[in-house]
Amino acid sequence: MRVLVIGSGAREHALVLAASHDPDVTALACAPGNAGTATLAEPLAVDGNDPGAVTALARQWQADLVVIGPEAPLVAGVADAVRAAGITCFGPSAAAARIEGSKSFAKDVMAAAGVATAHSEIVDTPARLDACLSRFGPTWVVKDDGLAAGKGVVVTTSYDQARQHALTLLDGGHPVLLESFLDGPEASLFCLVDGTAVRPLLPAQDFKRVGDGDIGPNTGGMGAYAPLPWAPDDLVDDIVSGVVQPVVDELAKRGTPFSGLLYAGLALTTDGPQVIEFNCRFGDPETQAVLALLHTPLCRLLTATATGTLADEPPLEWAPGSAVTVVIAADGYPGRPRVDDVITGSDAAGVLHAGTRRRDDGAVVSAGGRVLSIVGTGDDLSDAREQAYQRLAKVHLAGGHHRTDIALAAAEGKRAIQTSTQ
Ligand code: AMP
Ligand code: GLY
Repeated sequence: MRVLVIGSGAREHALVLAASHDPDVTALACAPGNAGTATLAEPLAVDGNDPGAVTALARQWQADLVVIGPEAPLVAGVADAVRAAGITCFGPSAAAARIEGSKSFAKDVMAAAGVATAHSEIVDTPARLDACLSRFGPTWVVKDDGLAAGKGVVVTTSYDQARQHALTLLDGGHPVLLESFLDGPEASLFCLVDGTAVRPLLPAQDFKRVGDGDIGPNTGGMGAYAPLPWAPDDLVDDIVSGVVQPVVDELAKRGTPFSGLLYAGLALTTDGPQVIEFNCRFGDPETQAVLALLHTPLCRLLTATATGTLADEPPLEWAPGSAVTVVIAADGYPGRPRVDDVITGSDAAGVLHAGTRRRDDGAVVSAGGRVLSIVGTGDDLSDAREQAYQRLAKVHLAGGHHRTDIALAAAEGKRAIQTSTQ
């Protein structure tokens, strides 16, 4: 099987790495990829958001399976175009990808499916803002009603900060979504979905804030671990039956079945799991931890998902133990990242690349906000943390920063970090 992965982050490096271990995979390419994916997969140039360009590349390279990593190509209809060309594609249609692309669409689907989520209101003009804000609080959740790479959300106890963020979004022409605050530890559950059948992967937890102790602005994710030692045994079954399957059924009923990876981001509240967001693709950085434990050949699973035969697949096989991933971000991230800093030690085991590129002189340099994802595995979370941080200590990026507390509370047997305010 010839497999083409679209994207350029550490999630795509993790997908390429898992695909490289799949005995059915005979050739692997990644477009546009990064300096890390290029060590395992043929690097190909493409604008991943251009449906025609990706389809032409898949044809020309004779791909048997195209795996689309990020949300933007999916929302832009790249999977539809690749499938229309008769090529098997892992990733939902543009119509189904709206579950991530439009938060108001996701709310509508959840309401119809009877799935618990935060109460919300859309504000599209500054004139209505104060009246709407007064119906929320004392913790305000202010979101961009569109794709924002995890950075369009402000959660705050400050009315002024909430108002300012909403005004900035409105000024930029973006409708604003106000939400009630969901209190409780967060969990990410990735599910393979083939239109009807649902196969959950291991549950994971992401660390969104930039700083230790959940301080500072939200990011795309600074680290993650899987599975969740503190979660009740029936957590995954509860989320599948109460959240994921009803949404999958509702999308199918609307004539826009979801085929690909449906990611439920949840707050585990005292009233049960409530949805914070759905994403239409593998999450980053949770994928780096989850796939580190997957034993079942990845591309076999992705093909079964894409061809509607997931129900025929045997149970997934996982390594025992835990995995932890820690992100090294560039100076300035999540604001404007500094680029072109030389990275050393990035070709070691457990080092996945995100914003990296190889210079003409052969040096690997930074080329984005999240630069590397360091993965460790072990018998338990403490061992996995130890390996991840030992590996991280051998990598150098000038001005790079990372969190030192990824999975710490869970490793110490404390229930996970609560959602917090800034
Ligand atoms: P999102 O981009 O919607 O995933 O939001 C990013 C982060 O903001 C989430 O992972 C949560 O930590 C936080 N967040 C978003 N919505 C809520 C909410 N309604 N209640 C509490 N925290 C939230
Ligand atoms: N881990 C957050 C995301 O992928 O959106």
